[in-house]
Amino acid sequence: MLPSMHRLLGAALSASALLQTATADDRPGLNRRQSGLNAASVSTADFKSRFEESGIVPEVIAALDPAVSFYAAYQSDSGQDALLVPGSSLTVAEANFPFEFSVENLNNATNITSTTRYLIYLLDADAPSRDDPNARNLRHYLAGNYTISSTTSSLLPTAQRLFLPTANANPFTQFQPPAPAPNTGVHRFVYALYTQPPNFNTANFDIVGMSTETSNWSLPDWRMQLGLGPAIGATFFSIDTGANGGQGTSGNVDTQAGGGGGGGATPAGADANVPPYAYALALAGTLLALM
Ligand SMILES: *[C@@H]1O[C@H](CO)[C@@H](O)[C@H](O)[C@H]1NC(C)=O
Ligand SMILES: *[C@@H]1O[C@H](CO)[C@@H](O)[C@H](O)[C@H]1NC(C)=O
Ligand SMILES: *[C@@H]1O[C@H](CO)[C@@H](O)[C@H](O)[C@H]1NC(C)=O
Ligand SMILES: *[C@@H]1O[C@H](CO)[C@@H](O)[C@H](O)[C@H]1NC(C)=O
Repeated sequence: MLPSMHRLLGAALSASALLQTATADDRPGLNRRQSGLNAASVSTADFKSRFEESGIVPEVIAALDPAVSFYAAYQSDSGQDALLVPGSSLTVAEANFPFEFSVENLNNATNITSTTRYLIYLLDADAPSRDDPNARNLRHYLAGNYTISSTTSSLLPTAQRLFLPTANANPFTQFQPPAPAPNTGVHRFVYALYTQPPNFNTANFDIVGMSTETSNWSLPDWRMQLGLGPAIGATFFSIDTGANGGQGTSGNVDTQAGGGGGGGATPAGADANVPPYAYALALAGTLLALM
């Protein structure tokens, strides 16, 4: 191995050690911020293992062998743009529609051309509750016709944006913001990405008889109905409905009038010890400098 490779590897290892240390920090609210703000790539192998650790594979999706790293980007409660990495814990407000979807490693997916279109869904695997998910899966969003952009992600320069051209925007299921009831456990929400069979370039999923019912959505039946291969990428986040008056794991006290979160249920003093935001930014800067 070249000496410079050693140095790079060393830098990468210390960067990840730093990340580990910081991630293990038990100060409330820190983990989510860092997972969002590092804006560092996650390998497909890590996506795979995080889905397995979360139990989503095999409880919800029988198997996931992602070809691409699939990311969503959201606005954090403190107003920062953040990257959703698999397993991020969000507040209800942060779980609003991502302002950007992006992918890395697209050349590893089979049967992709520049004209390939994609479909994306969001589902709640733990509806209405984690203990009794009798509406699994609850579909919160489904749209086809996503297209690869030549523009890179605003958060991750190695990722290409996916966008939905206005002329082709025809979501089969309009986005319904996650709003799990308080004290119904930790809900896992999954975004997944599939390549779109060409028959849906000119018609929506009703041409194969897909139902608009959003509850009790069976993924295996649906894939067969639409003629889909396995997901080429997927990511997930959770909302802890036991935290923050049911509004999820908030990284900050919401003191701004009109700020997200949907109301004054935030317990007084929650997350009062959250360290300055600058800490996470400094860490992100350190990581960038090491790259
Ligand atoms: C390429 O995709 C396959 C699944 O199609 C996956 O098993 C493999 O890990 C991917 N390789 C990389 C480098 O992501
Ligand atoms: C590749 O794509 C074409 C057209 O989109 C489709 O007919 C074919 O079945 C696909 N092949 C595989 C292996 O997915
Ligand atoms: C989903 O199906 C199960 C079992 O068939 C049923 O008990 C449940 O009420 C259904 N849930 C909804 C929301 O339709
Ligand atoms: C894709 O866009 C076309 C219009 O260009 C539209 O007719 C079709 O329904 C769309 N398909 C999906 C799955 O959204």
